[in-house]
Amino acid sequence: MATEKSAVFIIFGGSGDLAHRKLYPALYRLYQAGMLKDHFAVIGTARRPWSDEYFRETVITSLEDIDDNKEEMTAFAQHFFYQSHNVNDSEHYIALKELAAKLDDKFDAGHNRVYYMAIAPRFFGTVAEHIKSEGLKTEGGYNRLVIEKPFGRDLASATELNDSLSRVFPEDEVYRIDHYLGKKMIQEISKIRLNNPKFEEALNSKYVSNIQVTLGESLGVEDRGGYYETSGALRDMIQNHIMQIIGSIAMDKPEELSAEAVHKVKTDLFASLKVLQPEDVKTEFVRGQYDTDNLGDQKAYRDEDNVDENSNIETYVAGRIEFSDDRWNGTPFYVRSGKRMPAKSSRIDIVFNEKVADLGIKANTTVSLLIEPEDGHSILINGIDYLEANQDFIKFPEDKTYFDNAREAYESLIIDILAGDHVHFTLWDELQSTWKYIDAVREQWDAEEPDFPNYLSGTMGPEAADTLLEREGNSWVWDD
Ligand code: BG6
Repeated sequence: MATEKSAVFIIFGGSGDLAHRKLYPALYRLYQAGMLKDHFAVIGTARRPWSDEYFRETVITSLEDIDDNKEEMTAFAQHFFYQSHNVNDSEHYIALKELAAKLDDKFDAGHNRVYYMAIAPRFFGTVAEHIKSEGLKTEGGYNRLVIEKPFGRDLASATELNDSLSRVFPEDEVYRIDHYLGKKMIQEISKIRLNNPKFEEALNSKYVSNIQVTLGESLGVEDRGGYYETSGALRDMIQNHIMQIIGSIAMDKPEELSAEAVHKVKTDLFASLKVLQPEDVKTEFVRGQYDTDNLGDQKAYRDEDNVDENSNIETYVAGRIEFSDDRWNGTPFYVRSGKRMPAKSSRIDIVFNEKVADLGIKANTTVSLLIEPEDGHSILINGIDYLEANQDFIKFPEDKTYFDNAREAYESLIIDILAGDHVHFTLWDELQSTWKYIDAVREQWDAEEPDFPNYLSGTMGPEAADTLLEREGNSWVWDD
């Protein structure tokens, strides 16, 4: 049985979608696993005037997909409390502080606090400032701030946000969530590299022709048109998830798998991003926006709710990224992410060149690490399960049940937060470099009118995304 942890969680945005869809189910699984047991409490805060009883009912409803043990769910929900909250009202923070102290006594939670920002980003700074001015931070236990994306919308706003948070929480108390870093395959990458010396030896520009990272989605923006209009695919997927995935596969081998060692090599990698000149953005990046499908059944992006009918926001991005460090100089990293592609597919494809034959790996081998939606076996060599591929340079953990038993991303990230482990969170130094890179693309795009919409729903995106690779003799490995 797992070691029990103690903490009072304060969830800002406790009545919201993220909390109900992701956090409460994740906390429940930790409860089932014995990691949360007697010594924890969760305070949900939001504007709505809910009672504890009503809040608990919503928590139980959020668990219905994962369990039907009413007794256990009800016992779990007894740890939940609700505090109606206006983020600008100092009195509310004082009430919150008193409630947290009371629950800490009641459950003997060790003066540990997890402040979870599951609210609109514009409130992040205000909430943090009140946590300071109303003295919510405890002594004698830890204080950890968990913050969801987006962390700013460009380098300037991210810096401003970081400054306001860091006046209250030093970097070692901040846990910036990128939920892709909680996904099993991403977490496995370091171990795969560590356990397969030949694969690791081949992972550099001498042997790699190109690396491709695809985060394709079949859904459109659904009910998030309002948010998406302020974001677009570049900010929503490339700046964070895709960059972090690249970080995991392309960083230098850390000396050990500690947070400090991993972030050191990751920060160095991102610092070596070759930021594009304005004139290069056109040749290195492609943007797209979905239209209806070929039958006219699906809504075009511009017809979605809360979307401007002339919107120039991109729902698709493909790009060619380069690094200047010794390991990767000259190797293209092709990235793409799009809504309304033919299928949900999150994957990394590593395309080796003919020189890998010198290492005993078949020339031009492609290794694909499937992040999703595949359950179970998730490494392909030249398109087939690696076990059947008859090449032994890459071995994978344990057995086929390994992924079936994997924890869900939020569950695994919350365990890390409770353990004080930063390895799967993004650090400010990394964000500065990735924002700087993204800003250069965004600024150039904002200066030009795109020709949207330019791809049909259910297709692989604009043709220019293929040309991006074809012009240097490459092609996308995932091609529906
Ligand atoms: C989120 C984006 O961060 O990631 C969404 O805001 C996107 O637009 C989602 O749909 C994809 O995550 P996953 O885990 O479903 O691949």
